Amino acid sequence: TTKIIEADPEDPQIAINAAAELLAAGEIVALPTETVYGLAANALDENAVAKIFEAKDRPSYDPLIVHVAKPEDVHLVAEIPAEVEETINKLMAEFWPGALTFVLPKKDSVPDSVTAGLPTVAVRMSAHPVMRAICKKFGKPIAAPSANLFGRISPTSAQAVLKELGGRIPAIIDGGACLNGLESTIVKVQPGKKSKDEIVLLRSGPVTREMMLPFGKMVKPKVKRDAEGKADAKAQESPGMLDSHYSPVTPFKLLEKPEDFVAEEGKVYALLSHRGTSKAGYLHLHDWDTVEILSPGKGKLSEAAVRLFYCMRKLDEAGVDMIVAEPLSEVGIGVAIMDRLRRASEK
Ligand code: TXA
Ligand code: MG
Repeated sequence: TTKIIEADPEDPQIAINAAAELLAAGEIVALPTETVYGLAANALDENAVAKIFEAKDRPSYDPLIVHVAKPEDVHLVAEIPAEVEETINKLMAEFWPGALTFVLPKKDSVPDSVTAGLPTVAVRMSAHPVMRAICKKFGKPIAAPSANLFGRISPTSAQAVLKELGGRIPAIIDGGACLNGLESTIVKVQPGKKSKDEIVLLRSGPVTREMMLPFGKMVKPKVKRDAEGKADAKAQESPGMLDSHYSPVTPFKLLEKPEDFVAEEGKVYALLSHRGTSKAGYLHLHDWDTVEILSPGKGKLSEAAVRLFYCMRKLDEAGVDMIVAEPLSEVGIGVAIMDRLRRASEK
């Protein structure tokens, strides 16, 4: 069985020590971060890392994110190329600790299983006080992908981790609900023309395009598709970025416009609504069995981001035939929300 260890905000030390001991013993443990919960292991211990892949049913071609305690510790796992060092240092100074992950050339110390055989490694420094304290106490880099089964919705609470991985992992450190609610932004920095470096946005997230604009030219990665137009998961610059991801068990469909909704006779539907008002939204379209509202009334995108995976999980448990989702505006964090909704949506 899986033990839940509460990190008491007044006195988190017991939980911090327990996590560091598990990691030192070559075990895996689920940890809170400001984005989503991660499933952690010693990043430099191949046997420990193998347990992450096993518990998540994660294919070996999908690389992990490595967490460090402080910016200087990047050098334990990666090289910062001299030609882009200035831009990377500026981005780190601005957004670390926080929800920004850098893809950098890896050091030999990092097992190939962590990076799925790639010459690069993804690194970030979390802002969550409990995660930071665990990284510091353990003293070594920690590999931690999101603590969900492969392809499923990322967990934003200890209870969600328990539902995903209960019985498959020894322990979960409960550090409360995640403040961002969406996985970190992933970037790669490369030299560009006219002395302005390019920031390649490999995964959109809480650190938005707009926030990074002052630091370089924002560019999109090239998606490699096969003859049928399908993106090959293994061939991408960011290999885990599949067309299909974050999927509820219940069929899920993002509606790009209201006309796209056609109810089938005898089927029961749930709605994932942005603000829960009929005017702009899809509330009036149907007599929904269940409705979850991302940001009641206000429609604040930051609130919608925090609640997205929580609401998707709730609807998944409602026992309906299909969940449909309203689109949100693609500005700021709305880009990352729509990215997740599109990947969750049936093709
Ligand atoms: O917010 C987050 O980043 C959370 C928390 C736990 O830190 N972690 C997370 O990990 O979202 P995960 O496993 O769900 O996403 C890792 C993704 C991979 O699927 C891949 O797309 C990208 O990071 N990635 C990892 N290493 C990479 C590399 N060397 N090159 C390109 N992309 C990489
Ligand atoms: Mg994930």
